[in-house]
Amino acid sequence: MLLKYLFCFSFTLHSTPSTVTARSRSPFEPSRMQQLRPTNLAALTAALLLLHLTPTLTNAHNITRILEKHPEFSTFNHYLTLTHLAPEINGKTTITVCAVDNAAMNDLLSKHPSIYTIKNILSLHVLLDYFGAKKLHQITNGTALAATMYQATGTAPGSSGFVNITDLRGGKVGFGAENNDGTLSANFVKSVEEIPYNISVIQISKVLPSAAAEAPTPAPSQQNLTNILSKHGCKVFADTLTANPDALSTFTDNLDGGLTVFCPVDDAFKSFLPKFKNLTASGKTALLEFHGVPVYQSISMLKSNNGLQNTLATDGANKFDFTVQNDGEKVTLKTKASTAKITDTIFDEQPFAAFAIDKVLLPKELFKASAPAPAPAPEPVAADAPAPAKKKTKKKAPDAPAADSSSDAPADSPDAAADDSADDSSGAVRFGARYVSFSVFAALAFVYGFALM
Ligand SMILES: *[C@@H]1O[C@H](CO)[C@@H](O)[C@H](O)[C@H]1NC(C)=O
Ligand SMILES: *[C@@H]1O[C@H](CO)[C@@H](O)[C@H](O)[C@H]1NC(C)=O
Ligand SMILES: *[C@@H]1O[C@H](CO)[C@@H](O)[C@H](O)[C@H]1NC(C)=O
Ligand SMILES: *[C@@H]1O[C@H](CO)[C@@H](O)[C@H](O)[C@H]1NC(C)=O
Ligand SMILES: *[C@@H]1O[C@H](CO)[C@@H](O)[C@H](O)[C@H]1NC(C)=O
Ligand SMILES: *[C@@H]1O[C@H](CO)[C@@H](O)[C@H](O)[C@H]1NC(C)=O
Repeated sequence: MLLKYLFCFSFTLHSTPSTVTARSRSPFEPSRMQQLRPTNLAALTAALLLLHLTPTLTNAHNITRILEKHPEFSTFNHYLTLTHLAPEINGKTTITVCAVDNAAMNDLLSKHPSIYTIKNILSLHVLLDYFGAKKLHQITNGTALAATMYQATGTAPGSSGFVNITDLRGGKVGFGAENNDGTLSANFVKSVEEIPYNISVIQISKVLPSAAAEAPTPAPSQQNLTNILSKHGCKVFADTLTANPDALSTFTDNLDGGLTVFCPVDDAFKSFLPKFKNLTASGKTALLEFHGVPVYQSISMLKSNNGLQNTLATDGANKFDFTVQNDGEKVTLKTKASTAKITDTIFDEQPFAAFAIDKVLLPKELFKASAPAPAPAPEPVAADAPAPAKKKTKKKAPDAPAADSSSDAPADSPDAAADDSADDSSGAVRFGARYVSFSVFAALAFVYGFALM
């Protein structure tokens, strides 16, 4: 929190051109650091990470729209959208986007990097400071290191997330990734658009080479999901998941194609365990799967996408969905029976994100609205279905046989559509044994519902 305010303060100071000296005293000032000692670097990275996780301002600019006016940047623009960097950029102020033209992007793409690698490289081209053309040509002492969005991901080793900007002879300005042997491989070409001191979009001559950013990112399926969750305050949830191979494999099967996990913090899940133990076997699996969404979503995507979300437990007509609702900086997840708040970002590396939440999400299919006690189904086959709530069943039953899929469409985040094909399965309508058992149940309920009328 404190760091966040310090950053806001530092950025506010920056809003007037004459405050360069005041800023240079800030302990977080990256651009004047001559020596990056590991401890400073770690603190700075932590601070940047914090800043990165809590974009504070609503969209004052739209990078997609700015670049659309310039067809020579259409490839760069396309990849900002594909990698979901565009909303991250729109959520920040006092930043500089170093765009490259289509020819330069084609050089990069000819090496066939993965989408994760492209995201790393492009995030190295977003500087977390404002550099208009004027400031670029008047850098104090002629050289500066600028922290980038790549540094802010927390995955950039050493100082590889910094870009060296140096004023060169003859009015040139050189750019280079800091860990690139001091080679300044790209030059400032022109200013594309400047909105002082919110966003500056400039063109540089080439993609900045960076061995660290280009290093193949381990495939997300190599990530140890339960380890990551355990290490970040969700050990009870992770252990419960490990003890349930069905649910665990549903999560890990989705790691490569896109997965967002909302994991209840230990206190919340621990106090829920007695109720969890009361659920049937399939109810337990469904409850765990309810905490995963088969689409990658960053915090800024969640903040700009209110509405229904399907989950890993969604199964044909058996909705198992919840509502994402934003209120300023707060993102809440609501069902008829529970409201949870996102308290922390645990992991965010496309296509996998994990967020801590302060309460267990209770699907309405398993828990009655506002009644804290679960409604254990009498027979295991009905465990996933809205148990004794006859009224609701009656209302739901008529559309159940249709296995509604199109009506669920808005639950998918709109910008996921353009993503890799795996994301297209985000509706995750899985037709398995549970679906069949639900159909039988729904059909019975349908008849039963009519008998009541
Ligand atoms: C500029 O260089 C001088 C002399 O090397 C140094 O004392 C000063 O701190 C530098 N200023 C910045 C902002 O890095
Ligand atoms: C800069 O961003 C702030 C905060 O989002 C906004 O209020 C302001 O209008 C923006 N300035 C310009 C010139 O767009
Ligand atoms: C930004 O602009 C693009 C293209 O004009 C548009 O599709 C998108 O919805 C805009 N984003 C926001 C957050 O307004
Ligand atoms: C940037 O790189 C140039 C050229 O290698 C080097 O002389 C300069 O000291 C570097 N600047 C900073 C701030 O590290
Ligand atoms: C994840 O880590 C745990 C504990 O270190 C280990 O038991 C488990 O086998 C690992 N899972 C995978 C998929 O590597
Ligand atoms: C578990 O189920 C039993 C029987 O339905 C019930 O009496 C008990 O209160 C439930 N326990 C919890 C913690 O919900």
